Amino acid sequence: MSEWTDIIDGLADHLALLKELGTRSVEVEPAVIRALAARSGAAAAPLPAAVPAPPARPAVAAPPAAAPPVARPGATRVLTLDQRRQELAAIAARAEACETCVLRRQRNRCVPGQGNPLSPDVMFIGEAPGADEDRAGEAFVGAAGHLLTKMITAMGYTRDDIFIANICKCRPPGNRTPAPEEMQACLPFLREQIRIVQPKVIVLLGGTAIRGLLDTQVGVTRMQGQWTRYDGIPVMPTYHPAYILRFESLGDAAGLKRAKTEVWHALKLVLAQLGRSVPKPSNKA
Ligand code: URA
Repeated sequence: MSEWTDIIDGLADHLALLKELGTRSVEVEPAVIRALAARSGAAAAPLPAAVPAPPARPAVAAPPAAAPPVARPGATRVLTLDQRRQELAAIAARAEACETCVLRRQRNRCVPGQGNPLSPDVMFIGEAPGADEDRAGEAFVGAAGHLLTKMITAMGYTRDDIFIANICKCRPPGNRTPAPEEMQACLPFLREQIRIVQPKVIVLLGGTAIRGLLDTQVGVTRMQGQWTRYDGIPVMPTYHPAYILRFESLGDAAGLKRAKTEVWHALKLVLAQLGRSVPKPSNKA
């Protein structure tokens, strides 16, 4: 098979999966359409430079069907729900045993992240566990987690619908910002999680998550509310829930309102990207 045929096959698998998962439209760059049109009937020649590479992340399967989907050699990998669970558990075990950086020495529990592994609408990514998470072994269960849960609920989801993870899997002492080398040591775990979970959208919570995953020095204030991509996945950067809580504890009502409005605007963009309408606000929110 030529490189071109492999790519077409991988793409066809990926589109079939998206359809199975309920996606009804996909974005295609005009350059790709032009390249496809120009290439029809000329399958053997090398790819034109203008055509972006196919998604590096694997195509994935819908919930287990009668027979597991077959991955063709050379085509992208297909994972069942059970395989995803197993692979995530293996990552969690490796993160648990990891001694690459100093964070291992002082943390209690490793916090790999948790949630729906089957191509959830959203994967939220924060910075690193805090004291509550370090005790519980679960991401975003403290005060910031409580606010994140409210955000998730306001979007019309439960925590079980989506996936939550962090850049670092171990708590930095005193909740300090993780050092660049600690983030670099831990990022392979998150990258693997993303490849396995295949979220439809990633929401990055705060500057550390943005710097870590996107490898950029552009700050959260500039990035917040602006779409970008990671490995082909739409990424929406926004403020960390702790940033909002800070305004609350300072009694800064105007700052609180502004931060909440900006974050909610970003989350509404996420819902629009997913083709979902904004749920009616509940009285309890
Ligand atoms: N802050 C984070 O960034 N992650 C958590 O899990 C908790 C608080």
